[in-house]
Amino acid sequence: MRGLVRETRLSPSELVYPLFVTVGEDVRNPVSSMPGVFQLSINHAVAEAKRAHDLGVPAVLLFGIPAEKDEAASGAYDPEGIVQLATRAIKDAVPELIVITDTCLDEYTSHGHCGVVDKNTGEILNDVTLELLARTAASQVESGADIVAPSDMMDGRVAAIRSELDNEGFQNTLILSYAAKYASVFYGPFREAAQSGPKFGDRRSYQMDPANAREALLEVELDVEEGADIVMVKPALPYLDVVRRVKETTNLPIAAYSVSGEYAMIKAAAQNGWLDERAAVLETITGIKRAGADIIVSYHAPDVARWLSA
Ligand code: PBG
Repeated sequence: MRGLVRETRLSPSELVYPLFVTVGEDVRNPVSSMPGVFQLSINHAVAEAKRAHDLGVPAVLLFGIPAEKDEAASGAYDPEGIVQLATRAIKDAVPELIVITDTCLDEYTSHGHCGVVDKNTGEILNDVTLELLARTAASQVESGADIVAPSDMMDGRVAAIRSELDNEGFQNTLILSYAAKYASVFYGPFREAAQSGPKFGDRRSYQMDPANAREALLEVELDVEEGADIVMVKPALPYLDVVRRVKETTNLPIAAYSVSGEYAMIKAAAQNGWLDERAAVLETITGIKRAGADIIVSYHAPDVARWLSA
């Protein structure tokens, strides 16, 4: 009876599973603040992608940890860069799995910021960064990425990436833009996982103030005008009102990113025996979907898929 009148139904088909890919052979480094999450060398990333796919998860989101970082973030757009190699390997092994690549420079810059930094003023140089982001997106798609996901929040990045992809003949590649990305404490564990914390300053000049919701609608509007195909709100849990409001203002698919800190909170409580992990995760994912998300990015994606089919 309850099933018949249930308003929100979960399915593995709406989940995206983030993976951290690192250089080296046979590497499986645990991320201490995210129990169950690992930095994986390509062979292990392929195996993990395959496991997720077998459970019914349709897509992975790749983050790269390069061997070297520099001021120009050259590892981000290197045709032999870590994400490019991982994308090829995953598409070779599991062609039906959708590969989404994080298009951002922060994992590749020596200072850990999402853009090129002016040596004299310490400011992020928006337009120089756009060129590098567009190059990064094109090289990821060249390697087989199905969707690129710019996560940097630079002004004009969606338009810059769209025009570069169109010029390169990739008119059909989708852009999932992190349209409303808040300056959030909940990215903390990710910065350990991706080894990408800023070495100085913070990201408040290019990420949004948690106090603002209407600003998110403005950011979404700009990204939609620039050609975004899917818009994302991030983090998810503290911003469900934003997910709902974005849903009401656009007809594009909405994604919500349940970020590293959200994962870590549930894991920590579960490990202490304070919460039932399965129930907590399913309730959380239900809430995110009820708020209006069509696509949910979660480090729990394979677990959710398994629990739903059990
Ligand atoms: C930037 C990026 C970040 C996350 C996804 N893409 C980090 C940041 O902005 O500091 C965070 C995701 C998470 O916390 O799970 N490349």
